Formats: sequence, C-alpha cells, structure tokens
Amino acid sequence: MIPTLEWLPTGVNFLDQTKLPLEETYVLATDYKQVATVIRDMIVRGAPAIGVSAAMGVAIGIQRSQATSLAELTKEVAEIDAHLAATRPTAVNLFWGIAEIRNLYNNLAAKNTPISEIKEAVVARARQMYDEDIAACKQMGANGASLLPKQGTVLTHCNAGALATCGYGSALGVIRAAIEAGHKIDVFADETRPFLQGARLTAWELMKDNIPTTVLCDNMAASLMYQGKIQAVIVGADRIAANGDVANKIGTYGVAILAKEHGIPFYVAAPWSTIDIKTAHGGLIPIEQRSALEVTHSNGKQMTPDGVGIENPAFDVTPAKYVTAIITERGVLTGPYNESIQAFASADTTQ
Ligand code: MRU
Repeated sequence: MIPTLEWLPTGVNFLDQTKLPLEETYVLATDYKQVATVIRDMIVRGAPAIGVSAAMGVAIGIQRSQATSLAELTKEVAEIDAHLAATRPTAVNLFWGIAEIRNLYNNLAAKNTPISEIKEAVVARARQMYDEDIAACKQMGANGASLLPKQGTVLTHCNAGALATCGYGSALGVIRAAIEAGHKIDVFADETRPFLQGARLTAWELMKDNIPTTVLCDNMAASLMYQGKIQAVIVGADRIAANGDVANKIGTYGVAILAKEHGIPFYVAAPWSTIDIKTAHGGLIPIEQRSALEVTHSNGKQMTPDGVGIENPAFDVTPAKYVTAIITERGVLTGPYNESIQAFASADTTQ
C-alpha cells in the first residue's frame, strides 16, 4: 500500500506529494507546528488524509507537551487546535480530525486522568483513526464497485486515491474494488490545473497499480463524452453539505454538468467524516483561495504577463442535483440527499 502518512516513534512521516511523480521522498514532522506546515503546504493533501494528519498533529502536540498540570495542558491544547485549524478551510475532515482528539482530551481531563495516560490515549486514538480511514475506504469500495461499468472508461478529477487518504482511496478505492471484482476499467484522469493532482498524483498511483490510465487536459472531457468515450465519472469530496451539495477540487462542477448533459452517471465517494450536516447547503462552505503563483507559474516558469488579474479558488461546489449517488462506508446515498443523509446520520451518535 502507498505509504501516504505514518505514525512513527520519532514523529509523523509524510510522503512529500509536492515532489511526486519524480521523487519519492518523506518529510518527518516532529511537532504539531511541523504537521500544520505539512498540511498548509500540501505535502499531504486530500480531505481524509488531512483529517487523520490533523488528528495526529493534535496527538503529537499533546504527547510532546512539557505541561506539568492539566490546566496548563488544556491551554496548550487550545493553542494546538487553533494552529492546526488555521491551515486549510474547506475540507471538513480537518476540523473533524481535530475535534476527535480534542473531545477525547476533554473527557479524560474532566476525569482528572494523569497526563501520562492522556498522552497514551490520544496517540492510540489518532493511530486508530488511521486504521479506520483505510477500513472506510475498503468499505466504500465494496459498496460502490457494482455502480461502475463492467467494461469501460471512468473519468476522475483531482486525486481521491491512496494519496488523499491513509490508503486505498475513496473514488480510486471504488475503481480499485471494481477492478478487483473483475471489471475491465480504464481511467481517464483530468490533469487538474493548477496544482496538477490528476496528472502528478492520480496517474502516479494508478500506474503503480498497473491500472490503465490516460491523463486528459481539463478542457478535453466534453469532447470525449460526446464521442461516447466515458461511461462514468467518480470523484471524491472535501465537504458535503446536509442537502448533498458537494465541495471538491475546482473543475468538478463543470465535469458534473457535462456528465448530466451526456447522460453519464456522476458519483461522489467520501467517508462519513466528509459529510457536514451542520452546513445546510453548499453556498455556506468556505472556499480556499490559493496563491496566484500556482496559476501564473508552471515549474518555476512565468506563464502570464506581469500584472494580469488571477483567480485561484481551490474548490467549487457541485449542486446535489448533478450527483447520481454518494458512496460512503455506511452505504450508497441517493437523492433527495437531505433525507438520505439524515437517515444515515441517525445511525451515528457522535454528530
Ligand atoms: O487541494 P487538495 O489536493 O487537498 O484537494 C483534494 C480534493 O479536492 C480531493 O478530490 C478531495 O479531497 C477528495 S480526497 C479523497
């Protein structure tokens, strides 16, 4: 399995995704501030991977704290949470990951648990979340595989694979599971300007698994759909609102409209931690704006004239009406999503 991130006795080890596909190097984060930098700089990226990384960030912050009293440690935990929460705004998994560890901390602190025991418990929970993320991906694969064509080409956008999770992937996990079940699937990977997660990351990890993969420029899908060369679309998500609106990598919305126009199913695969039932609709999801340099420059070379205006929103929102189904580890949701999300959410006591 591709080692996206790993808890080690020395710190949290991250595969440096900014260096792929040319270099497979690792960055070891030995304190929570370094974990925050790794998330902000997209050394690790992808909503589920960000969620578990943030949980590990809080855990390492607590583990390495020099606090000698619970009062002192509680103050530090608030600072750790705030520091990690300020890294990236859109993927709700970040806030979910932080909250998981903070809630555990609060419960243990309320019972006056010795600091050494709290340290062990939060590290154990963060490591368990890593295992649970892989299990969720495998379950999404099992739940969604039969939705993909027995034979055909599936388009994906950005990277919702092993690299975006702790392993196996959400959207790419469903593709992997379908192939393991005997489907003959070729993948079209949108290159995903400007950060090129499709060209660099999706293509890299699928090639490693010998899954037939073709990279498309982002403006090619319409023509290929028109020619009947795409049978299904599957993407991941950074946040799904209570009404089923899906925030995902910029460009996803356009792909969804194209799929509808051409009568092609458009699937979203995401763990339950990506569903934000407290956000009523997609218009309320904060969209990260990233540096203009990602657009103006390519591989360090300037591509645009000095002084030109630049837009660089990292995500867009696909209205629920374009989504054929949302594949989660709890099951496959279909519209109306405000009803199906509520029905599946009631099985969860933590929300
Ligand atoms: O900016 P990124 O690379 O973190 O954005 C990632 C995406 O948009 C993914 O499609 C999404 O997080 C789903 S990952 C399973």
